[in-house]
Amino acid sequence: MSLKIVLLPGDGIGPEVTAEAVRILRNVGDHSGIPFAFRTHAIGGAALDAEGIGLPDDTLEACLGADAVLLGAVGHPKFDNRLPSERPEAALLALRQALGGFANLRPAICYAPLARRTAYQPEKVRGANLLIIRELLGGLYYGEPRGFEASGNTAFNTLIYSRHEIERVARVAFARARERRRRVASIDKANVLETSRLWRTVVTEVGREYPDVALEHVYVDTAAMRLAMSPTSFDVMLCDNLFGDILSDQAASIAGSLGLLPSATLGGRVDLYEPVHGSAPDIAGKGWANPIGAIASAAMLLRFTARMEKAATEVEHAIDDALAAGARTRDLAGPGERVLSTEEMGQAIEDALVEARDRRHAYHAV
Ligand code: IPM
Ligand code: MN
Repeated sequence: MSLKIVLLPGDGIGPEVTAEAVRILRNVGDHSGIPFAFRTHAIGGAALDAEGIGLPDDTLEACLGADAVLLGAVGHPKFDNRLPSERPEAALLALRQALGGFANLRPAICYAPLARRTAYQPEKVRGANLLIIRELLGGLYYGEPRGFEASGNTAFNTLIYSRHEIERVARVAFARARERRRRVASIDKANVLETSRLWRTVVTEVGREYPDVALEHVYVDTAAMRLAMSPTSFDVMLCDNLFGDILSDQAASIAGSLGLLPSATLGGRVDLYEPVHGSAPDIAGKGWANPIGAIASAAMLLRFTARMEKAATEVEHAIDDALAAGARTRDLAGPGERVLSTEEMGQAIEDALVEARDRRHAYHAV
């Protein structure tokens, strides 16, 4: 049986980083004997250019028939003057909705060799390892009504959450916390927003089903501060759609670069994997992009869709090993450090993967 993976490279640096994730998946597929069948389709600005529509029917159909979708990035400044509904980003939001995954897992770790590259004192970020669980199908992103009033001088969006939407994502957060350090920080703005009052009530109720997991409620503004001051004080952070979007970029500052963060979106018909970063059109095509977010997303695919935990961990260790050996893309390089291209970083991680395998093999052979 092969695993059907639809690739949606998308815009900007999307194709470059996706190619490196595919390199790693192919390697794992060849080694494990579980073949991955890849199909590539258009989405976002690339699809708007080619077909006049951001999420073409054949793309959507292929995704719905796949085991997993691996997306690069969407967005381009040439669409900046368009309404939100006509921009490349709308295609991604429509895709997320169609696939139905509501729990977006965004791990952020401080890789020890990069602690000095962050904006923080290394001793404050070292050891930080948090998992943002972002509700992905509700809240301000999808709430109706939304739009401009006829005058054009007033615009509105709706922040709405139902008990059901909160419950299901909260369960994912508590379940993941059980696999980690058993702590959930639920992020809200319950001192101001009704939706946050409901969020707090429902999360507290769900939390009673997980008495072994410590739950705290943290206002989003406080959480932003705490992420900067003491990121190691967080384990799982449970966020609504918008707060999770914002805090995950901030969490990237703890890792040292937005290019490092992966994500997995689970709970729907088809799992969706995408690096947290955007399309970075300013550096597209230059080989400057960091493929680690995409490669780590592929590792999450191995873990959650392919159920190949061992292979997933091996890929993650290969990333650690490559970084420990000094592999640096432009975003990670300090003064005087050798800079690898996107492709060279992918190769360095593949080499580390193969080396670790050979080492284990040699050890078992003794
Ligand atoms: C993300 C991105 C997207 C989001 C954009 C591209 C629509 O910023 O995945 O974090 O806001 O969800
Ligand atoms: Mn974002």
